[in-house]
Parts: sequence; C-alpha cells; structure tokens
Amino acid sequence: MDGNGRWARQRGLPRSAGHQAGVKATRKTVEHCARLHTEALTIYAFSSENWRRPETEVNFLMELFVKAISSELNKLHESNIRVRFIGELSRFPSALLREITLATEKTADNTGMRLNIAVNYGGRNELTNAVVSIARKIESGELDSKSITEELILQHTWLPDCPEPDLFVRTGGEQRLSNYLLWHIAYTELAFTDTLWPDFDGDELDRIIEDYSNRQRRFGQTGDQVQKTK
Ligand code: IPE
Ligand code: MG
Repeated sequence: MDGNGRWARQRGLPRSAGHQAGVKATRKTVEHCARLHTEALTIYAFSSENWRRPETEVNFLMELFVKAISSELNKLHESNIRVRFIGELSRFPSALLREITLATEKTADNTGMRLNIAVNYGGRNELTNAVVSIARKIESGELDSKSITEELILQHTWLPDCPEPDLFVRTGGEQRLSNYLLWHIAYTELAFTDTLWPDFDGDELDRIIEDYSNRQRRFGQTGDQVQKTK
C-alpha cells in the first residue's frame, strides 16, 4: 500500500491526511477481496524500515492503526474474516498491542477470508527468525538437521498455513518488493500500478486480476506442458 504521502502532497495536505485516506482504500479493498472469496489477503501496513520516518509520522501511524483496528473490528468479525498480524510485534506501543491481541482473538475461529496485516514486518527478519528457531530446536535435540526441508522452513515463518500468494500488487509506481514476503512470493505473479494507494479501488483490482488471469503460470514447465495439463 504505497503512495499515501504523495497523494496528500498533490492536494496540498499533510502526509497524515494521505494515511487517513489510505485507511479508507484499505477498507474498500478488504471488502472487495472478501466479496471475491479471496482465501487470504496479506497487506503491508508498516515495514521494519518505516521506523526511520520522522517521529511525528510514526506516532501518527501508530495512533491511526489503533483507531482503524478498533473501528473496523466488528465489521471484519461480522464478515467472518480471520485477522492475524505478522511481523516483529514486540516493539509496538501497548495500546496497539492490545488492539492486535483483541482483533486476533476475537476473529480466531472465523472461517472466511484470512486477513494478514504485516506490521513491523521484514522478509529477511522473518527468515532470520525461522533460521534461529530451527537452530534452537536442533541444539536442543528436538530436530535433526537432516529434517530441514522447504516445508519445514515454511512452518517456521509467520505464515505457516496460508496458501502461497497468487498475486502481489504494489501501488504508488515503485517496482520493487521492499523486503515483502520474500519466502512466500517465489512463484507469485507481480503487478505494479502507478495509482497512489488512496485512489486504489475494487475496479482497479478487478482489472489487475483480469490481466493476471490471462497470464500463463508455468512453474518451470514449458508452455506446451502447461496447456496439456489444463
Ligand atoms: C505508504 O504510503 C503507507 C505507509 C507506509 C503506512 P507512503 O507513506 O509510503 O507514501 P509515499 O510513498 O510517501 O507517497
Ligand atoms: Mg512510500
């Protein structure tokens, strides 16, 4: 979700107004994905690098997250959405941690769309954590190094039980991953749009999905092989 600051600047507004408009776009997009029966949606709300922003902006974002989670929670729950947060959560202020715990617990048994919210998330950090916990289990004798497989590594990431993402969308015009979901997007289709996040909506997502559905996903096979197995 990139482009909130530029959206605000174009309107002569403070960056905070862009983040507020971004929350609306997030709400609409989550609702749209749920309507499409998306199995899992993972949104990048705050990266482990975003702490480097001016303190006032970081503080504003923390308060905005608290407000957004608490005001959206009932609706998410009614929509049977299961909310989870991924990232290094311990660094967050306690008010935000409370909302995070509340949202996770309240929706834990929901069976509809999985909404994963990445906060203080970094893909390398996720993999480092996985390596550390596997190493600890080997040290304690709980695991043998021979049992290290891709599946075992996945089980030690923060998304052990979600389907592999089919589609990655980045708004705001930059064409980079910025440390997002590195392990999980090995075969994910990538889409980049110049639209700034507050202007993103279901119609644009539909267009991106339409483009995605015309792509041939070969997973290393030849085009002919994929045609035959269809
Ligand atoms: C992304 O928009 C939102 C968050 C990081 C929370 P930006 O704040 O990065 O917006 P630009 O890139 O400055 O326009
Ligand atoms: Mg940005």
